[in-house]
Amino acid sequence: MTTFPEFIQQNEDRDGVRFSWNVWPSSRLEATRMVVPVASLFTPLKERPDLPPIQYEPLLCSRATCRAVLNPLCQVDYRAKLWACNFCYQRNQFPPTYAGISEVNQPAELLPQFSTIEYVVQRGPQMPLNFLYVVDTCMEDEDLQALKESLQMSLSLLPPTALVGLITFGRMIQVHELGCEGISKSYVFRGTKDLSAKQLQEMLGLSKPTAAQANRGPQQPQVPPSNRFLQPVQKIDMNLTDLLGELQRDPWPVTQGKRPLRSLGVALSIAVGLLECTFPNTGARIMTFIGGPATQGPGMVVGDELKTPIRSWHDIEKDNAKFMKKATKHYEALANRAAANGHIIDIYACALDQTGLAEMKCCTNYTGGYMVMADSFNTSLFKQTFQRVFTKDVQGAFKMAFAGTLEIKTSREIKISGAIGPCISLNAKGPCVSENVRGHQEQQLCLIHLQAPLCIKLSTFYFFLQHNAPIPQGGRGAIQYVTQYQHSSGQRRIRVTTIARNWADAQTQIQNIAASFDQEASAILMARLAVYRAESEEGPDVLRWLDRQLIRLCQKFGDYHKDDPNSFRFSETFSLYPQFMFHLRRSPFLQVFNNSPDESSYYRHHFMRQDLTQSLIMIQPILYAYSFNGPPEPVLLDSSSILPDRILLMDTFFQILIYHGETVAQWRKAGYQDMPEYENFRHLLQAPVDDAQEILHSRFPMPRYIDTEHGGSQARFLLSKVNPSQTHNNMYAWGQESGAPILTDDVSLQVFMDHLKKLAVSSAQ
Ligand SMILES: *[C@@H]1O[C@H](CO)[C@@H](O)[C@H](O)[C@H]1NC(C)=O
Ligand SMILES: *[C@@H]1O[C@H](CO)[C@@H](O)[C@H](O)[C@H]1NC(C)=O
Ligand SMILES: *[C@@H]1O[C@H](CO)[C@@H](O)[C@H](O)[C@H]1NC(C)=O
Ligand SMILES: [Zn+2]
Repeated sequence: MTTFPEFIQQNEDRDGVRFSWNVWPSSRLEATRMVVPVASLFTPLKERPDLPPIQYEPLLCSRATCRAVLNPLCQVDYRAKLWACNFCYQRNQFPPTYAGISEVNQPAELLPQFSTIEYVVQRGPQMPLNFLYVVDTCMEDEDLQALKESLQMSLSLLPPTALVGLITFGRMIQVHELGCEGISKSYVFRGTKDLSAKQLQEMLGLSKPTAAQANRGPQQPQVPPSNRFLQPVQKIDMNLTDLLGELQRDPWPVTQGKRPLRSLGVALSIAVGLLECTFPNTGARIMTFIGGPATQGPGMVVGDELKTPIRSWHDIEKDNAKFMKKATKHYEALANRAAANGHIIDIYACALDQTGLAEMKCCTNYTGGYMVMADSFNTSLFKQTFQRVFTKDVQGAFKMAFAGTLEIKTSREIKISGAIGPCISLNAKGPCVSENVRGHQEQQLCLIHLQAPLCIKLSTFYFFLQHNAPIPQGGRGAIQYVTQYQHSSGQRRIRVTTIARNWADAQTQIQNIAASFDQEASAILMARLAVYRAESEEGPDVLRWLDRQLIRLCQKFGDYHKDDPNSFRFSETFSLYPQFMFHLRRSPFLQVFNNSPDESSYYRHHFMRQDLTQSLIMIQPILYAYSFNGPPEPVLLDSSSILPDRILLMDTFFQILIYHGETVAQWRKAGYQDMPEYENFRHLLQAPVDDAQEILHSRFPMPRYIDTEHGGSQARFLLSKVNPSQTHNNMYAWGQESGAPILTDDVSLQVFMDHLKKLAVSSAQ
């Protein structure tokens, strides 16, 4: 018998699926009483090097409204060569290619270990991949130089047949014609006026690839003759390298006290329009590099007067952010167009001040693009992160996928009612899609999680249990996730994941349901619901909502005597959950006032799309201690872990911080590490540095690296994360040995838990 934790891990490894509950309450009413909704966290393209794609296409159910894919849950009659669809019960004849099947000769898609399987689509032409660089030239020479070098380097990492294009912008926008013999030529646009796709098409003389060109076979990426703006890398990489090398700062003079005029909004619009006209529904990335905010034309987020600062949270609260609504609308429209064509928009924003990520976040969110934020283009944070975009897997294929769509099919008794994640809806109406889709319904959200940067268009929204459809006796609820995408080899592929869970009557089998609780997946689910709310509601309301849910969960699943807080017990399955909520409440995802609107958008962007493990680190950072007392060990994220003779390594996902305790810092200042007789001290100092490097080298985006010590100004990053178990209010109660006091008005975990228990057991509730 596998235990639930084993089962959950197995499912995550094999299918990239985690559910908040792994046994589902059999009525809608009961489901709402579970507090945490029944929802799945799904990674459509989880890395599976052990899963070779199969070289034929999926077999579909013949019922037109179903079209589910044959899977291990289907009943098969080998003698009659029939299979019954497990979603709609339709009986389907196997096609002649399956003539040889029998109990001992089953095709892979029927074997239980292939609950996730990937097919290669054989029909249709191979499609090219497009990379369109959109480059700001209003930046310091140092930044521009570093950026140019990174862009030149990236050309060598692109697949040779990929098509590449270049748009540069400052006050004006230049669309560069590539491959014109000898001379470099470009079309120049003003940044103050937007252009429709149609206008752009006429001005640039663009046309879509014709069917004949599209059928020239896999080796020949089709280039429509009229498109001089996107050319194969292998043909023009030398010339483009030269062109990039010659890029200059925007030549328009910037007077004292002004910001440069930066036409980002129209530049991005031209990029979206160019691809929309030439390569709809073909994989493409628009890679946008910006050194500051848009300051003119559609999409501007701040005026050019330096004395007027860019909007803050305070301005937004006071409805005093003059350009925000209009700019957001501009970028939302672009994001929707790009996503509808399967095109990805990435934003690399490198500047000390804000650049308008808060207005532009939908560009990366709807399209599944990257958002990267750094202080300068001449930092390893930007350079390394950008290089990692082109990472390849063991088979030599890019880890990125293109032009993806995800469709979810469900068995009759359930419906999908919503999704949170980097995606847009295809607005499909089908039997699995609830009519009740629009608007926010807290009980009924399904999480669609995308780890692979993938432009996903969702045909389905929220996910909840339909109330009056009878649950078949002994039946199981089933879900099929069908992800279609363009692989970096140019192939179209279809990945199919089919899973099922048991039903249980919550009146009589509540123990079964409780035992199936996945507290990690549930914490992330509730956290994402809270962040989703925080995008439109006031902070205190979101916290109150989160607290109410937590109290209700304790009341429903805790063991206690009424009005006796000391009697409260939570079973192991739930024991970590309150602590996650405690740290979530303090996290930058819900607390905005220490951050700029851009920073909040950046943190939330990554939180809403990383996988479960990374998301948990973001909520509750990991802390390791290094000392002479033994090997490095994980320690509590608590102020009592900060000791004078320890070095701490903290991983918050966005930051890797090394903190030297007071004594260690003094030894280091005295230079003990350089004396041969204190070699062990040198090793002690080096150990966390080596461990930090390992994380810095693998994570995307690369975290910020901070080296600090007791009393150092950057120590605040550590102090703001740890549980303030010893605050200045009780700092006299303990001695030197027991940790560092935290100056904070926050309550500690202990106070939080005591309060929670009191509320949970109160009969007044
Ligand atoms: C980038 O930064 C490095 C290290 O700080 C510096 O040596 C280099 O000169 C900078 N590059 C440019 C183009 O200024
Ligand atoms: C690349 O540049 C060279 C030298 O300027 C020129 O002769 C050649 O025609 C260019 N090639 C393309 C494809 O533009
Ligand atoms: C991203 O978009 C989705 C769906 O449109 C939305 O639910 C989510 O809140 C957005 N996330 C962020 C961080 O803006
Ligand atoms: Zn069917």
